[in-house]
Parts: sequence; C-alpha cells; structure tokens
Amino acid sequence: MIYLKTPEEIEKMRVACALTSRTLGEIARWVTEGVTTRKLDMVAREFISDNGGHPTCLGYEGFPGAICCEVNEIVVHGFPSGYTLRDGDIIGIDLVVDYDGFCGDMCYTFPVGNVAPEVMQLCIDTKESLNVGIEACREGKRIGDIANAVQTFCERRGYGVVREMCGHGIGRHMHESPEVPNYGRRGTGPVIRNGMCLCIEPMINLGSRNIVIDRDGWTCRTRDRKPSAHYEHTLAIVDGRTEILTSFEPVYEVLQDRFI
Ligand code: MF3
Ligand code: CO
Repeated sequence: MIYLKTPEEIEKMRVACALTSRTLGEIARWVTEGVTTRKLDMVAREFISDNGGHPTCLGYEGFPGAICCEVNEIVVHGFPSGYTLRDGDIIGIDLVVDYDGFCGDMCYTFPVGNVAPEVMQLCIDTKESLNVGIEACREGKRIGDIANAVQTFCERRGYGVVREMCGHGIGRHMHESPEVPNYGRRGTGPVIRNGMCLCIEPMINLGSRNIVIDRDGWTCRTRDRKPSAHYEHTLAIVDGRTEILTSFEPVYEVLQDRFI
C-alpha cells in the first residue's frame, strides 16, 4: 500500500531531510586520504545524536553501521570498517536519518584525491542520471517513467544499470511502497500522486550491471570488480510539484572546487 502523506507529515519529512543533508555535509569534511570508513561512521553517529536524530540503518536487520560505505566496486550496503581511504578511490556514503518519526535518505559518491577520468565521468553521469530521474518524477506520470529515464540515460553512455536494488517510498519507515527501479518501461507502474515521498537512487556500474553479495549477506559488489557510483535524493510530491527534500548544498560547501 502506498501511504500518502499529509502536509503536516511532509513538513516533518522536510525537517528530517534537512538534518540528513547537514549530516552528509559533516561527513564530507572527513572524506580524505588516510581516513577509515569507521571514522566516517563515528562522525555520522555523533552528529546525528547531537542533533536529536537517530541513524536508521544502525541495527536495521543487523546492519552494523550508521552509514553504508561504498568504496570503488562496492555498489551498496558496505560496512564501515578499518579500510583506509586511498588516493584514487571513490566512496559512496548512503545515509538514513530518523527525526521526530520520519526518515530522510540520501547518498553521495565522493572522489578521493586524483580519480581516473573514466571513473570521475561515471560519478558525473550517475549524478546527472539522478537529475534526469527527478525531472521525470511528475505528478500524474508513473514510476516506470522515472525508471525508464534513468535507464535510457545511463545505458546510452554504456554503463551497467543495477537491477537487483531499487529506490523506494519513504516516510515513517525508510522503505515504503512503491519500489522505484532504475530500469523499466514508460507508462508502467503506479501513478505518481500528491503526498507521495520517494527516493530515487541510481546505482550505476562502469562495467556490466551484474552484482554479487559477499558472505556477510550485505556487501554488494560489481561482479567484474569495476567501480560503481550511487547518488540519492528524497523527494515529495506537493501540490502537483516535485520538491527535493534532501540537498547536496552542505556537501558542495565542503567540496568547493573539488565538487562534481
Ligand atoms: N539508503 C539505503 C536504501 O535506500 C539504506 C539501506 S541500508 C540498511 O536502501 F542498512 F539500512 F539496509
Ligand atoms: Co534509499
């Protein structure tokens, strides 16, 4: 069932998403060569709790971190660990924050130092595919229109579009109906309506779309071990307009000229 939010609930979503965005900005300060992903997780936990929020991922079905750390070939759901970031890495930080009963969910893939040009281009194109998906997310259109827009944009550029993982509805729970795939046919799927809150999150591979899951049951990697990029925003459909509730502005403030 798709739960449509009241204006009061959407206002709470705005607040939760603003805290999520500020948390990602705080993490961005620490994303640099020599830092462990565990440190990034600690920064997230502290910032979220100092601001009265709760890290939704922590303990969710046993997930051991507040953030997912997606280094290079990790597509999604990487654990924070003792891994030390190195020059040339990319790292997606996927973060869900619960505040006053509602969740914000977002992801940004950061370059660390000098990243190979084709990997940088993968990040740029994946972020643009999120914008393309958002553009297709219009009241009265369908979920398949978003899915098809993302898929077409990415496959034209020769990338692999991950199929096993999807975007989703969001609200009191981080995962609600409907699923928002990154591939599909126009004019199919649920109609996009006022009161919906949706997460669009392209997970795009430099090589093939195939993935494997580690024996930890979580860590999702590209099968060919080529890099993968991931960006995500939380959106609300309000009065016929699509409002982007999360924001990359706090990240851009930190990255300055390094921002992509
Ligand atoms: N942002 C991720 C998602 O959209 C969060 C899941 S991480 C988990 O699915 F650990 F909580 F599962
Ligand atoms: Co999500």
